[in-house]
Order: sequence, then C-alpha cells, then structure tokens
Amino acid sequence: AAEVIDLGLRTGKMDRVKCSWAILLPNIQRMKRLVLDMLDFSKDRPLEIREADFNRTISAATETLHTQVYSELRQRGIKVSFQPGRSMPPVRMDPDRVHEMALNLMLNALDALAERARGGRVKVETWLQLSRQSVGLSVQDNGPGIPPELVDGIFVPFKSGKTRFGTGLGMTIAKQIIDQHGGAIEVDTAPGKGTKFTVYLPILGPSHPAS
Ligand SMILES: Nc1ncnc2c1ncn2[C@@H]1O[C@H](COP(=O)(O)OP(=O)(O)OP(=O)(O)O)[C@@H](O)[C@H]1O
Ligand SMILES: [Mg+2]
Repeated sequence: AAEVIDLGLRTGKMDRVKCSWAILLPNIQRMKRLVLDMLDFSKDRPLEIREADFNRTISAATETLHTQVYSELRQRGIKVSFQPGRSMPPVRMDPDRVHEMALNLMLNALDALAERARGGRVKVETWLQLSRQSVGLSVQDNGPGIPPELVDGIFVPFKSGKTRFGTGLGMTIAKQIIDQHGGAIEVDTAPGKGTKFTVYLPILGPSHPAS
C-alpha cells in the first residue's frame, strides 16, 4: 500500500492515495500498539498512583476506541455503549494504565465481533462494589465466546486464538495492571453466548504502593 501511495502522489492520482491510505492507517495503528505492548510487557513499570475519576478514565478509553477504529465500527455496524456507575468515589490508581487495561478488553471484544455480519454490541459498565471496597468494570460482547480449551490460557503471554494479527499480549498486560493495583479479573464466557470480563479495583489502591 505504501508503494501505491508513493506512485499515486508522484502521478497525482489522489483516488489511489486515498484508497491505499485507508488500508495503511489501521496497520500503522496495529504496529504502534504492538510496539507499545512489547515495551509494556518487557519492563515492570511501577504504577503512578493518584486519586482519579474512574468513570472519566473508562469513558476516555471508549473514546480512544472510537477514534482508533471509528471507520471499522461504522462499516460493521458495531455499537459500543458505556453506562457509567453513579456515586463513584475517587479511586487511587494509575489512570493511564487503567485506561490501557480497559482499552485492551474493548479491543478484544471488537476482534471477537469480526466474524459477525451485523448487530455486534460491546457493553461497557462501571459501578461501585461496596462489598469489595472496589469499583467494578465490565466489558461484554455478543461475539462467539472463548473456546473452552483457550479460556485457561488467555493470560499467558503470546497465547492468541487469532489467526491474524494476534500477539497474545493484550490480556497478559491487562492482568499485570490489575494485579499491580491489587484488583481481580473474572471471565464469564460460553461458545455462542459472548464474553463478559469483570474487573474489580480497590478504591484505596494497592496496599503495597507500586508493588
Ligand atoms: N472478548 C473475547 N471474545 C473471544 N475471545 C477472546 C476475547 N478476549 C480474548 N479472547 C481470546 O483470548 C486470546 C488472548 O487475548 P490477548 O488480548 O491476550 O491476545 P490477542 O488479542 O490475540 O493479541 P493482542 O491483544 O496482543 O493484540 C485472544 O487471542 C482470543 O482468542
Ligand atoms: Mg487483545
């Protein structure tokens, strides 16, 4: 595609440039993510804990999702909804890392909807889980579900069920971030029924800062 753009630019054929750029852009974004994922995975970066707004952080992640894959969402008619919880207290966390964790879950949900012709839905919700002194986040899709033989391996680095593009680092990194915060992640999935990931993060943050 890069060569076609080059040729298009030299010969003034803008339709070619446009067409190829649409192919090139998502791939550049994938490469960028891959590089950032590899960096994340390779170093055990300490958290930068501060009091932050959980709803705002998750809302920002859904916006990042929209800007990154907007045309894809539109073309495939996928609806992404965010239902923010009410009366949410400030949470001691690393907002950038939590943003990244949530985005990884949402990107997986989108990938899971790839085969679906129409009616794909990603439902994101947050709430206050007082019984756990935590805030909750769920990311649910109506995709094909995770095959039983893969479920136990989803947090294993470089394990991917995808035939194309899957590096197998997204969930490993998400789990790493949740663990660092002293939180928990649960998965509820069945073939044909979709997948729901639920994350809990302690309001007061990790008990051992930056562990
Ligand atoms: N919502 C989901 N629905 C179905 N399968 C899922 C879902 N989330 C994760 N998986 C499965 O778990 C595997 C591991 O996910 P992970 O995010 O770690 O890797 P990846 O998405 O393949 O690659 P990467 O995120 O590094 O680009 C996926 O390849 C996929 O098979
Ligand atoms: Mg992934």
